Amino acid sequence: MLEATKTILDVENIPLVEISFMNDTHFEEVGIVKNLSKLVSVYQEKNSHTDDEMTQISQALNGWLDHTILHFKRENELMQKTEFPAYSVHSDEHEIALKKMKTMIQAWEQNQDIELVAEYIFTLWPAWFHQHVNTMDMMTAKFAKINGFVEGN
Ligand SMILES: [Fe+2]
Ligand SMILES: [Fe+2]
Repeated sequence: MLEATKTILDVENIPLVEISFMNDTHFEEVGIVKNLSKLVSVYQEKNSHTDDEMTQISQALNGWLDHTILHFKRENELMQKTEFPAYSVHSDEHEIALKKMKTMIQAWEQNQDIELVAEYIFTLWPAWFHQHVNTMDMMTAKFAKINGFVEGN
């Protein structure tokens, strides 16, 4: 499972879209998740944990959440700017994904069950991310490009 996950998470395996700032955000996110994956793997291998180790995971998860909030916000703004017709479909996917991420983090903070975090990071999120970038983000970027969106403006 871990090997398959690593394949999905490799930067070169993320589908590229036609807008650079979106690709850059996706690359950054994979970096964040790789770092978290290491922390979680180390945590899973030990039988007892210090408060510092738990805090480190909490901080990394909350940093990822902040990054994700900005990621989705910028894409939603791009869709609004370019009047992307499927705005609500794409932004709804963001909303649902954000809720799941928040629920996972809250569960971690309440009971420190690393297996729930591991399932999310190694299985649920990579599948979601790959599928989302390959469909919603891909269409959004293509539409923006065709409709004359120029980055930096
Ligand atoms: Fe995206
Ligand atoms: Fe998106």
